[in-house]
Formats: sequence, structure tokens, C-alpha cells
Amino acid sequence: MTFKITPWEVTGKVDYDKLIKEFGLQPLQNLPKQFNNCSLFRRKIVFAHRDFKRISEAIENKKPFAMMTGLMPSGKFHFGHKMVADQIIFYQSLGAKIYLAVADLEAYNSRNPDMKELRKTAIKEYLINYLALGLKLKNCEFYFQSHRSKDGVKSNAYYSLANMLARHATFNEFKAIYGEITPGKMSSGLLQAADMLHAQLPEFEGKSLPVVVPVGVDQDPHLRLARDISQRIKVFKFIQLSSTYHRFIPGLKSGKMSSSDPTSYIALTDNPEETAKKIRKYAFSGGQPTLEEHRKKGGNPEIDVSFQMLKYGLEPDDKKLEQIKEEYESGKMLSGELKEILIEKMNQFLKEHNKQKIKANKVVEKLESSGEI
Ligand code: TRP
Repeated sequence: MTFKITPWEVTGKVDYDKLIKEFGLQPLQNLPKQFNNCSLFRRKIVFAHRDFKRISEAIENKKPFAMMTGLMPSGKFHFGHKMVADQIIFYQSLGAKIYLAVADLEAYNSRNPDMKELRKTAIKEYLINYLALGLKLKNCEFYFQSHRSKDGVKSNAYYSLANMLARHATFNEFKAIYGEITPGKMSSGLLQAADMLHAQLPEFEGKSLPVVVPVGVDQDPHLRLARDISQRIKVFKFIQLSSTYHRFIPGLKSGKMSSSDPTSYIALTDNPEETAKKIRKYAFSGGQPTLEEHRKKGGNPEIDVSFQMLKYGLEPDDKKLEQIKEEYESGKMLSGELKEILIEKMNQFLKEHNKQKIKANKVVEKLESSGEI
């Protein structure tokens, strides 16, 4: 089976080992001990990197570093988005300065030209959920690509960088990195490079520093471009970017989790009844077709979406997860029973999350009325 991965399109079943080779990534291993506290790293869901050593060293030597990533404001905030949020919040707990870009200009150029709607989605779906999940606004710059800063000096520096980078890339390079290329994609690639690099400008962190960019592996072309250009532009002394790559969380029905198909995900706004219904009806099962066969051969947790959702974070306890795996594989646990475990975990989580969202809502209302966002 073949697959295709570009920043704007992911099709087919992704072979991660093949990707590591093709893209020239490194498997992620030998992390500082703090990373054991985060199940996404422990369970190798974040599986590969470029130049992560620089970040490990910064953490071990208690030196400043930044984490930068971006979000496409589209559709509902679902568990795929939560996985990124969990990483951001984890880096914040390690002391990283956080930069978070809303890719509204990229969205304008590639899919949705309604800037008002993009803004609303970014705030009501993404920012509120980030805050409810534990993101702190202290030591965090949350910004829109279209409105970098109210401070003109900062804004000028960011937009100048995005434009100056163009001098240091060639058309053939764009073609090699992105395949099919359009002016909109070219401009998005350069702006994203500025997103990733601008923390190191005098107007922002005031010095060159290590920056880690956690992304889905589809975003690697953007990183290749930014990394290449950053070392050619000599007016700035950019420290080479580091990056990590996570696996895609499977969609509810297996296949892709897609914002445009509500039966392919659980959103963090779904209520308990909807959640239970969706899981019972749609969650792809790794079980056998008949009870008899299941008891004999057991289920396959690798392809079972309920198990995978537990693994991607809903069951944080490794021992409990392992026990579920063993029981399911041995045929002792049935697919329906596994689904009920997920439903319960999910609803516990959503209940607490909804409480946190009420608080987050208030914070966002304040930010909006003071004109800070
Ligand atoms: N292109 C990213 C996406 O499609 C969004 C993005 C914009 C981004 N700027 C970024 C990601 C900087 C990482 C770093 O989701």
C-alpha cells in the first residue's frame, strides 16, 4: 500500500519507519528523564526528531529554550489537537518559552478565505481548549499570523523576516520540497519559516536560542525549508531549529481523523451521550467477527481504535494499559467491554474538562475585552 504525505495532503496508510528513512529523520531516544512523565514520549507516539540534542542539553543545563508550533483553525477541537496541546503544556512545564501561531494567513491561502470565521474558531475552539487543558498565558506568546503584535517594532521584525527569507530560497528548492507549488503555498512556507525562526530575533527573545518545533510528520517539508534557509541568511545568526514528529492519532473509524467528518473523531465539546453513541457505533474494532473466534484468537490492539485512544492518553497508567492489552489479546476481554472502558475514561475526562472550560472562557473574555487578542 502506498501513502502520500505533504503539508496539505495525507493519504494512505502511513509507514513511519519508511518515513524516517525517506525524510532523513532520527528515531527519538535517550531523552532527559523528565520526558518519562509524559505518556506521549514514553509510548513513542512522538517518535522521531531533528537535532533534538540541543533541546536535551538546554533542559539538562537549565539554559533557556523556546517551543514553537502553529495551528490551522478549522472545525472542532478533537483528540488529535489535544495531543499537540499536551506536548505544548509539557514543554511549558519544563520551562520553555512558548510561541503559538494561529495560521490564519496560511488557511486563507490554502482553504478558507473567511478571516473572521478563522479568528473565531482559533479563539473559541483552540485557545479555550488549550487553556482548559492547562496552558498558562505567562511565558507564552499566542498570536495570529495576520496580527503578529500590537507593538510595531516586533511586528515589523516578524514581517520583514518573512519577506527577507525569500532571497535565500530558489524555485527549484520549493519544487523539490513541496512537489506541486503555488504562490499561496510558497508564501505560507516562508511565513511558517518566519514563525519558527523569529523567536531568535533581537526584538523577541533578544538572542539566538534553541527552538523546538513539535509537529505532525506531514509538516516536515516546512522544517526542511526553514532549516536550510536559516543557515544561509547571514544577517542573523540563527541556531539551527530542532523538531519532533508525532504519529497521527487514528480516526474513530480507523483511517484519518478529519475535522470535516464528525463521525471520524470525538470532539472535546461532545457530550457524554453523543460520545458513548459514537464509540459504540463507529469505533473501529480489532476484535474477531464471532464470540467464539474472539475467545480463541483474541483481539488486535494495534488496529483497535478504542485501545489506541487509551494509549494516546486517556489511560495514563502504563500498567493498566498493559493489563487491558493482555486481556484483549488473550480473548478474555471483548471488543464491547473495551469500548465501555474507553467510554468511561472519555466521559471522566470530558466532565473535568468542561469544568475547566468555564474558567478558560472567562479568561478569554477578559483577553478579548482588553483587546489583547
Ligand atoms: N502549517 C501548520 C499546519 O498546517 C500550521 C503552522 C503555521 C505551523 N506556522 C507554524 C506549525 C509553525 C509549526 C510551526 O497545521
